[in-house]
Amino acid sequence: MAEEIDIKKVARQHLDMDRFFAGDFSIKSEKSRTREQSLQAEADQAAGRMERIAGRVRACRRCPLGELRTNAVPGEGGWRGCIAFIGEAPGADEDAQGRPFVGRAGKLLDKIIAAMGLKRQDVFIGNILKCRPPDNRDPRPDEIVKCLPYLQEQLDVLKPETIVALGAHAARTLLDNNKSIGQLRGKFHDYYPGAMAKPIKLMATYHPAYLLRNYSDASRRAVWEDMQQVLKELGLPIPDHGRK
Ligand code: URA
Repeated sequence: MAEEIDIKKVARQHLDMDRFFAGDFSIKSEKSRTREQSLQAEADQAAGRMERIAGRVRACRRCPLGELRTNAVPGEGGWRGCIAFIGEAPGADEDAQGRPFVGRAGKLLDKIIAAMGLKRQDVFIGNILKCRPPDNRDPRPDEIVKCLPYLQEQLDVLKPETIVALGAHAARTLLDNNKSIGQLRGKFHDYYPGAMAKPIKLMATYHPAYLLRNYSDASRRAVWEDMQQVLKELGLPIPDHGRK
């Protein structure tokens, strides 16, 4: 008896062939296609949640900084399982553009990320405070209390594999302690995203603005050593850069 032809299967085989000869050499099974679709749906959902959080941040008036800003800076980039770089608060350039780490410290952060073999868009970049404190003063405890829930929500959506806390304010806030950055950097800590959730590994390191002010071999090496630990933890290759 002639074998029954599954038209859908034949059509899919033709499509796969077309894609293959057009240069896409990964012919996919139904199972991997379904998995891909559900990962895509999850990513779309996460992107939607991140955009809604950003919308609330841009409209926020929970503290007086909301009245003083030009733009709120919700944070940008990243997807589930990425590295999240968390700084302190936007400065003048960030306030003007509504984007995190775009000034001098940001240019240095870009270099650090590139030295890790990553691109800025591969990671999430955000801050403890979403609005610029006047004259770049330190964040105040009451501002942190009001603003931190936004970052906590973002981290809950992204579920980063690792968090890099840039500077003492970010590290202390996320770890809920009062230690100096010298005591905190160089080793992994646990960040607890919620009572029931698994802790996320957090590496504290010097803030790029500190590096700019204290540009020494020792401070640069310290940050690079911290980033090497992050790459190792994630099982990512450590670029050599001719360093010992
Ligand atoms: N410093 C920070 O902590 N965050 C920024 O976004 C820029 C500078």
